[in-house]
This record gives sequence, structure tokens and C-alpha cells, in this order.
Amino acid sequence: MRGFEYYTPTRVIFGKDTHLQVGTLLKEQGCHKVLIHYGGGSAVSSGLLDQVKGSLAEAGIEYVTLGGVVPNPRLSKVYEGMELCKKENVDFLLAVGGGSVIDSCKAIGYGVANPWTDVWNFFLKTETPKACLPVGAILTIAASGSEMSNSCVITNEDGWLKRGSVKCDFCRPRFAILNPRLTYTLPQYQTESGCVDILMHTMERYFVNSETMEITDSISEALMQTVIYNARILMKEPGNYNARAEIMWAGSLSHNGLTGCGTAGGDWACHQLEHELGGMFDVAHGAGLAAIWGSWARYVYQENPERFAQFATNVFEIPCGVDFEKTALAGIEAMEEFFRSVKMPTSLGELGLELTEAQVHELAFKCSFEDTRTIGAMKQLNMKDMEKIYLMAR
Ligand code: NZQ
Ligand code: ZN
Repeated sequence: MRGFEYYTPTRVIFGKDTHLQVGTLLKEQGCHKVLIHYGGGSAVSSGLLDQVKGSLAEAGIEYVTLGGVVPNPRLSKVYEGMELCKKENVDFLLAVGGGSVIDSCKAIGYGVANPWTDVWNFFLKTETPKACLPVGAILTIAASGSEMSNSCVITNEDGWLKRGSVKCDFCRPRFAILNPRLTYTLPQYQTESGCVDILMHTMERYFVNSETMEITDSISEALMQTVIYNARILMKEPGNYNARAEIMWAGSLSHNGLTGCGTAGGDWACHQLEHELGGMFDVAHGAGLAAIWGSWARYVYQENPERFAQFATNVFEIPCGVDFEKTALAGIEAMEEFFRSVKMPTSLGELGLELTEAQVHELAFKCSFEDTRTIGAMKQLNMKDMEKIYLMAR
């Protein structure tokens, strides 16, 4: 059995109206001036931003605001945020939004706290951050798990490279306010795309070709079943509080390290393949993962058919006979059937992309860092493998 380190320092405040506690929470953090960072407008139109400002004013906390974070958040906005923070002497970053806003906050925090280098170097992984301004989050979409995670993902417009940062505990949020009601206003596509991302954070850790722990497997399988069950409910009942709550908590647990304990880190090939799609074509992250997963799974399952068969049986209750391969393929088909049932794409065409061979090559070239790295743990994939998977997914 493998050893592991499990560290989740984020204080979670979960439930109805919890966002109204933000002023008090910030006061406890001892900060003097806060940057309230948000996205393209949903937090404004829902009235959430005004409520947040009210809570800070009541607690006597000074703040400045910066909106305009887009999905697949951009490096230029990070630089803008850094300038503002330096000018205003900001000492705490409050994200009001989803993964994109939280990640933009984390990157700003790295940039301000490490003036000795360009923040992009933490995404090229040529430098390691020595600190980060403290971050807190009011989550408005259950998906990325960034509210408890140790990384952030930023897109550099110069070359349209989407890259994850060095993994580092400095950027884990000090607190995460999880009020499932704040997700009621999400379009169905974003809700379901988020559900796929949550599933994938567990599946990336689950599909490995090495020993795992029974307890981690059981937690992961229960988590996947819970997400699948409640994602279906939300197709018909977007205002179902309990379903929203189950999904929201699953989102945090999926990516705070819990489902990776004892699994040697996970596979993560689908995330790497999807990041290039996000960088080049600006697709929603979870939908991009749904479009690629089936092709990845069919490409690699023979490396460990027993593992895929376990997934089929324990998540989808497909009886497992002696034929692991048959059961494995039935499990892959069942997951794709779930994606279709929540209107998520199972191919790049369904995602809205009609890729030329040249674009497929460019995606694989970028994903392999110009043919210098492999990805994946279930099966190590080189640039040629990546091309084949993108082609299968067309
Ligand atoms: O910008 P606004 O107007 O807020 O609209 C957003 C955005 O268009 C909208 N939205 C969010 N909350 C809403 C809402 N609309 C109505 N009502 C609400 N309550 O939803 C859209 C998507 O938002 P975004 O923040 O992009 O979604 P998500 O949380 O899925 O984040 C995706 C980003 O996180 C990264 C992804 O790569 C992607 O860039 N990830 C970050 C990770 C991490 N830091 O640990 C891990 C993940 O694997 C992922 O890679
Ligand atoms: Zn993800």
C-alpha cells in the first residue's frame, strides 16, 4: 500500500445564506483591503455582488473590485489584477464566481507575492512560487474544485496556451463559502458541464495502472454514483436544493485530494488533452472532457481491463463475468450514455468542433510540449498517441 500526504487546510462554510458571513470571515483573517474578483456579469445580475459588498461594509472592511474574468481565464487579466493589488495595497483576494475567477485570484496572488519573476513561469513550471496572497472563495458553480485545490489554470493569449500551475499549497483558499442556492441561476449546460468535471476529477485519480486502496475506491465509486444520480435530477429540477448540495460537496471532495489517497497521483491525460481544446477553441472545460473521455478510455482500457470492469460493476451495476474486456467496454458505453442523457457531447463534433488534420496535429504538438513529454499513467501517451485519440474523438 502506498503512502500519501493529505492536506486540506480550507475552511468550508456550507449551506443556505452562508455567503452573508463573508465580512465576518474576512475580519477573522485580519486583512485590511480586499480585492473582490468576479466574472462576466452573473454575480452582478443575481445581486450577489451587492450582498458581498454589503457584508464587507458592515464588517468595516475596505475593498476594490475587478470583474471581467472569462471562462478559460486569461493571463492579461491576471496582470491587470496584479497592478491593481499593488496600487491599492490589497492583502486578501476574494473570488466571487467559479473556477475561472478562483484561478485568476490564485494567479494574481502568486504574481503579487513573487515579484522576483514573471508569474507565467509558474505555469511553464520553470519556477516555483515561494508565497501567495491569501485567497477566499464564494463559489457560484460546482465544477472545478478550485475552492479547495492546490493549483490554478490560466490561458496565455500569446500562443493560446492553457497551462496548469505548479501544484503548491500556498494557493489553497483560506475559506470556501458553499451555498448551493447560488448555483440555481446556472444555465443547464454549465451545470452539467460542471458535473462532468467533478466526475473526471475522481475518474482521473481512479483509472490508474497501479495498486490503490479499497477505502479510496469505495469513496470514489460512491462519489461518482452520487454525481450521476443528482446530475440527472438537475436536468428536470434545476431548483432542487438537495441535488445542488450533493453536487457542490462532491465537487470539493473530488479535487481536494481525498479521492487520490493511495493512488499514486492519478492519470490526468484527459485533462491535459482538454486543456489544449480550451486554449485553442475556448470550449467549456467539462464539456471538452466529456467529448474526449470515451476515446481516451477505448484507447487505453486494455492496459487494465479489470480496473475498467470494476468501474462498470461498482458505478453502473453492470454484472461482471469472466470477460473483463466485455464488461470494461460496457462501462465505457454506460458513461457515454450518461453524458448523452445530460446533453453533454461524446465527440468533438458534438462539442461543435470540426477539426482538420492540421489542427489535430497542432493540438497534439502543444499537448506534448512540442513532442518532448508523455502524459498519462494508465498508459503513457506520446504525441502520436495524442493525435490518435483526438482523431478517434472527431
Ligand atoms: O462569468 P460569469 O458571468 O459569472 O459566467 C460564468 C461563466 O460563463 C457562468 N456562471 C458561473 N456561476 C454562475 C454562472 N452563470 C449563472 N449563474 C451562476 N451562479 O458559468 C460560466 C463558467 O464559469 P467558470 O468559472 O469558467 O466555470 P468552472 O468553475 O467550470 O471553471 C472552469 C475553469 O477552471 C479550470 C478549468 O480549466 C477552467 O479554466 N480548472 C481549474 C482547476 C483547479 N484550479 O483546480 C481544476 C479543473 O480541472 C479545471 O481545469
Ligand atoms: Zn477539471
